[in-house]
Amino acid sequence: MRAVVQDRYGPPSEVLAVRDVERPRPGPDEVLVQVQAASVHPDVWHVVTGRPYALRLMGSGLRRPTRRIPGTDMAGLVVETGDGVAGFAPGDAVFGETVRGYQWRNGGAFAEYVAVPAQVLAPRPANLTPAQAAAVPTSGLIALHNLPDADALAGRSVLVNGAAGGVGACAVQIARARGATVTGVDAGAKLDFVRALGADRVVDYEHTDFTRTGERFDVIFDVPGNHGFSACRRALTSTGVYILIGHDQFGASAGRWLGSMPRVLGLVARSPFTKHLPGPSVSMPDKGTSMAALADLAAAGQLRPVVDESYPLDEVAAALRHLQSGTARGKIVLTP
Ligand SMILES: NC(=O)c1ccc[n+]([C@@H]2O[C@H](COP(=O)([O-])OP(=O)(O)OC[C@H]3O[C@@H](n4cnc5c(N)ncnc54)[C@H](OP(=O)(O)O)[C@@H]3O)[C@@H](O)[C@H]2O)c1
Repeated sequence: MRAVVQDRYGPPSEVLAVRDVERPRPGPDEVLVQVQAASVHPDVWHVVTGRPYALRLMGSGLRRPTRRIPGTDMAGLVVETGDGVAGFAPGDAVFGETVRGYQWRNGGAFAEYVAVPAQVLAPRPANLTPAQAAAVPTSGLIALHNLPDADALAGRSVLVNGAAGGVGACAVQIARARGATVTGVDAGAKLDFVRALGADRVVDYEHTDFTRTGERFDVIFDVPGNHGFSACRRALTSTGVYILIGHDQFGASAGRWLGSMPRVLGLVARSPFTKHLPGPSVSMPDKGTSMAALADLAAAGQLRPVVDESYPLDEVAAALRHLQSGTARGKIVLTP
């Protein structure tokens, strides 16, 4: 099969090449999927470049990537099921992440076929194309897992900082689906896109600092993390919660060893002393259940994935350059 392969860490244009490699075989509890579309996200860039270096200790491979084919998000058709797989059969249309745990490792999605743990897949909703479905998994899971649940959001005000990005676009729509009033913050040129996602109000970060308008929110869902917690606290209600996702602007705004981790861990350490910070989550939510929840939201028209541009597999470096440029409105997709 054809696949994007990397033998070492480095800039995408230098280390990624399309080659013919052996087709994977599904192991026990795995499903072999023929990939129809895959999508790129910032963590793909992190794993391809090997930065921050700490992620190499977290499963991606110390000196070189232990898995050579990048990509974690895909949609496709089931070709074969491994021993012990129930609930999927050849021909089924599915979508999901290709890795069981955190997505800081190569997942093999940038290829014609990938073997995926069955437990992390969901049936693709009939109203989504493969490209739209491939745009959902990582961004949708981060938004779903980090936003408060519907009981805590109904009737509340949520500010999503970085609302036009992959995670932000899902957060705007999921918060709306959970009954919140949503304010989306992003660059002026992207605000029509943010409105079209369903945001009730928009703020142009190039002209307005949302921490200084005097307005207060019940939840601040912060993807870029460009304001400190103390500044964001000014814009929270007395019971409001600050949720930092963290985006290191492709290595530009955080250290090369630990990336955004010190900032995130610093907030976790402060969380017992302030009601404005959620405590550490002790368990990883079940991905299969979460993918089913995202599929339900999409089937109900409450989560509408937007694809900005599709690239063929051979142009994977251009797709990552597009992501890094910050100009995308919606997700960038690869088609084998
Ligand atoms: N916490 C977690 O659970 C977790 C887990 C995995 C990954 N992550 C991280 O989550 C991030 C995912 O981000 P994504 O996929 O949404 O990225 P993305 O698609 O690049 O979107 C980021 C958005 O933020 C906007 N932005 C940049 N600077 C801003 C500012 N000062 N104010 C407001 N908006 C600003 C960007 O617009 P412009 O570029 O036009 O400025 C862009 O629209 C990654 O960095 C990943 O490492 C977090």
